[in-house]
This record gives sequence, C-alpha cells and structure tokens, in this order.
Amino acid sequence: MLNSVQITEKLTAVLINTRSAVISNKINGDTPYIKVTAEAFEGKEELSYKFSFYTENKVTHKIISEDELAKELIRTMELGFKQCNIFGENNITLLMNKKHNFTLLKIKKGTVSDIKGHNREKNHILKNGEYVSWAYHVGLTDKDGIVLSHMQKKFRQINKFLEMLADIESNVPENSVIIDMGCGKSYLTFAVYHYFNTVKNKNVFIRGYDLKEQVVENCNKIAENCGFDRLKFYCDNIENVNNESGNISMIISLHACDTATDYAIYHGIRWGCKVMMNVPCCQHEIFKQIDKKAFPLMLGHGILKERFSALLTDSIRARIIELCGYKTDVVEFIDTEHTPKNIMLRSVKNDKGQNAEKLRELEEILAKYSVTPTLYTLAKKGGYI
Ligand SMILES: C[S@@+](CC[C@H](N)C(=O)[O-])C[C@H]1O[C@@H](n2cnc3c(N)ncnc32)[C@H](O)[C@@H]1O
Repeated sequence: MLNSVQITEKLTAVLINTRSAVISNKINGDTPYIKVTAEAFEGKEELSYKFSFYTENKVTHKIISEDELAKELIRTMELGFKQCNIFGENNITLLMNKKHNFTLLKIKKGTVSDIKGHNREKNHILKNGEYVSWAYHVGLTDKDGIVLSHMQKKFRQINKFLEMLADIESNVPENSVIIDMGCGKSYLTFAVYHYFNTVKNKNVFIRGYDLKEQVVENCNKIAENCGFDRLKFYCDNIENVNNESGNISMIISLHACDTATDYAIYHGIRWGCKVMMNVPCCQHEIFKQIDKKAFPLMLGHGILKERFSALLTDSIRARIIELCGYKTDVVEFIDTEHTPKNIMLRSVKNDKGQNAEKLRELEEILAKYSVTPTLYTLAKKGGYI
C-alpha cells in the first residue's frame, strides 16, 4: 500500500506515451462525479491532457500538461474513486481504498500510442524505457531505462538538443573533436557522445570542461565505466581551453554562465569550428552596462531591462558570429514553461563572413546603448571583425 506521494512518484516513472485514462468506480457519496476521463492531445509546444469530469447532466473540462499527469490522476482518484485505468505504452491499473491508500495493481505492455495522428516517439533520439548504460550511470534513468521522475525535464531538454543537432550533424566530420564548455554533470555531453558514436558511428572525440573538480572526476569515472575511451573531462576554465589536437569541429555550451558563453563562442570562431550550438544562460554583463537613457520607456523597468539586455546580448552574439563566417539560426530551444533560458544560437560555418554594413550596424547599436560585450571585445582584439 502506498500513500498519494509515493504512488505519484511511482506512477510518474511508468507513464510512457499515455494516450488516455478512465477514473471510475466511485466510493459512494464522496464525489459529485460519475467518472473522469483523460485524453492526450498535442498542445502548442508539448503533449497535454484534457480531463473531463462527468456528473449526471453535465461535463466540465480541465487541461493539464504532461508533467502534471501523474499528480492529477492521483488527485482525481482522491476525490473518491476506487479505480484508474491508464492506456499508453504501459497499460496500468491503479486501485485506491477508502483510507486513500493506493495499489499499483498491474502494468502490461500496451501499444505505442499514436496521439491524434502524431507518433511522438518517432523523432526522439533517446527513448524513455530503452536502457543505455550512460543514462543510468549519470542518474537520468533507472535500470530499465525508465526516466526518473525528477529528471523528466532534463531528459526532454537533451532530447531536444539532439533533435536540433540532427539537422546539422552532417557538417561534423568523422574522427573530429567536440568540446562541451561548462559541461557540469554532463548529461548532454554523454548524450552527444552517444548520438555521434552509437547512433551515427562517427568516432568523434568529446572533451568536457568545467570548473567543478569533483563533478569532473565523477564524469571521468562514468565515462571509463561505460568504456567511452573518446570521452574525457577536464577541470579548467573555459577561457583557457586550447586547440592542442587541432581537430576541433564543434563547440557546444548549454547554460554556461554569463560571459562563459562568449568565451565558448570565441574559441569556436578562432578555431574555425564547423558547427557551434550555444544555449546561453544568465546574462549580467550588458544589464550592468546598458545606458537607461537610450530607451527610457523600457529600460526604466527592472524586469524589462533584464529581458531586453538578455535579448540584446544574444542579438549581438548572433551578429558577431555571422560576421565571422557562419550562418546563425536563433531558435527557441525549449518551451519557456520549462526555462526562461530558452534561446539557442545554432551556427554552421559558411565562410561568407565580413560585411561592412552589418558591422557598422552592430557598432552603432553598441554605441547607442553604451555596451561593450565580451564577445565583441574578444573578436575585435583577435582581428575577426
Ligand atoms: C548551469 S550549469 C550547466 C551545466 C550543463 N551544461 C547542463 O546544462 O546541464 C553551468 C556550468 O558551467 C560551469 N562554468 C561556468 N563558468 C565556467 C568557466 N568559466 N569555465 C568552466 N566552466 C564554467 C559551471 O561550473 C557549471 O557547472
């Protein structure tokens, strides 16, 4: 018997591609509803569920996100229903007694759900429920490959990153080197290694850099245990990373703090990398420099100033990268509901580069707002713009 918190945790781990659910068998007198159903549909950005609450003569609805599904199913049962049947990749039966204790009665393999004509799993490079050793060792999944409940957002984030990488991966040559700047616990680094070496068989080398010694040590141990001999982690400042091997084709950075992103991009430019994928993090530099008088209508409000500074920072970065010979797409990385740090600069070398008009436009903006961002300083000093 499990309480509501325990059953929610357990249920979250086994809900995969849930298509629908029926909550029924009411405990007499406890609830005005006869039954409740839930049905999946593709929302604007992600999978959502429409809950329908039936009384004798009317039905009311509620929309919830995929993240909330387990919690909402349990909450609904607690209104006074003994049974919940869930249909999806796992078909699940849950029971609740009068004391609100729960039993997960059975889980059977269901069919891969085709939600409103859209098979969600087909685009995903990492699959929930498919065991891969590194994902277990970094703490993303359990031993059956089921994504742990508190790692669902991270899992979606790295899957999205891989999907965006898949569009441009052909630019990354075999046997070349990829650097992850500010890799942290390295969920993404392992995922990118897996993608290139297991899915694409490209034999790439990956080096991850981070300031946290303990974290780096742990990542090296995991890489070793998984037999990943082309994956190494180093405790060093991004600013100091060099191109010893001379074969670096790609730079990635995911939420590398503040100006660390600028150094990551600058290295990519000066090493002539073919591809750069940068998802910036908190941006303080321009926020501190920006001259409020340049746009008092907006910059007089703290929150607007913060957002404007972040957007200006990324606009400037995108322009500098383009001036240095790349085609840069500024794309939404992941739904803002998950994180406000949701812009990705995805750049592929095209060697077009310098354009006096575009440089002049950039420098006019820098002068207008009295800002001197790190990437501009580095690129100017290095003679790249
Ligand atoms: C927000 S975490 C992101 C970690 C990882 N990329 C991810 O998305 O899961 C930022 C990481 O960047 C590292 N970092 C920040 N500045 C750095 C620098 N100058 N050199 C190396 N690592 C840095 C931090 O130690 C931290 O682990």
